[in-house]
Amino acid sequence: MKKNYLIRKKEKKEKNYWIKKRGEKGEIIWRKGRAQGLEGAKGRIGDITKQVRELLKKRERIKILEIGTGFGRALLELKKIFGEKIEVVGTNYESKWNQKLAQEYALDQNFLKKDLPKIYTKIEGGKRLPFKNNSFDFIFCQATMQYISDRALFIEEVNRILTKEGIAVLELQEYRRDHPKEYENLIEIWDDGKRIDVLKYLKKFKNIQIRKSVERDWHYIIMKEVAKLDLGLELVQTINLEEDICPDWWGSKLIYLKK
Ligand SMILES: C[S@@+](CC[C@H](N)C(=O)[O-])C[C@H]1O[C@@H](n2cnc3c(N)ncnc32)[C@H](O)[C@@H]1O
Repeated sequence: MKKNYLIRKKEKKEKNYWIKKRGEKGEIIWRKGRAQGLEGAKGRIGDITKQVRELLKKRERIKILEIGTGFGRALLELKKIFGEKIEVVGTNYESKWNQKLAQEYALDQNFLKKDLPKIYTKIEGGKRLPFKNNSFDFIFCQATMQYISDRALFIEEVNRILTKEGIAVLELQEYRRDHPKEYENLIEIWDDGKRIDVLKYLKKFKNIQIRKSVERDWHYIIMKEVAKLDLGLELVQTINLEEDICPDWWGSKLIYLKK
């Protein structure tokens, strides 16, 4: 028998939104989807330690931001590798994924307190980001863009806060093979009644490269800083997939018009 939509929604919340629980031996089990770290990043946005290493050839010390950092595992691992050569900052949307939680996680996982990232909470990707122009040398975002309410504005904002010669690596999550046809594409761009291929459209910007995520169906962006990035897109519709269509899905589908 089909389960009621609201019950399924409640079940998903209980199943997927816990932070930590106790295992059989009393050990803490941290929610894995928020601690994918550098290993998880490899299958989604490639080897980001390589990007950091390249940037450190040009500068002695760099500032790194992860948007949607969860427990901050990838930042802690980068700090373990690069030490004082990097400063690490992370953001989360939810206020409970805060500095205190990141510290509890880091110490439980045998990271050092001095390596803790600075965590900002209540940061929403689809709005103006609360950082000054040219603040970060390396920005990355994994397993997060599907939640961002305006992904074109987000890409422009990331460009704004990148330093000159800075690099951003963003998991686009533009496509889900496991959704029915109408919802396979999580970003659509329309121009005068015709649908434009999102990846081809983004590739036209000379500072943007598109790469395939090796362990996922979708792609990620590698972006260099340019003086002012205007993607020329107007958000006209947002469909909240998990709230309004199917509780088993994540994030939202966005429809843009070419300006
Ligand atoms: C699945 S977790 C990924 C955590 C981490 N990047 C990892 O891979 O382990 C999704 C992250 O997206 C953030 N997030 C959710 N909605 C967001 C939004 N609208 N804008 C920016 N970040 C958001 C959450 O706070 C969380 O850190």
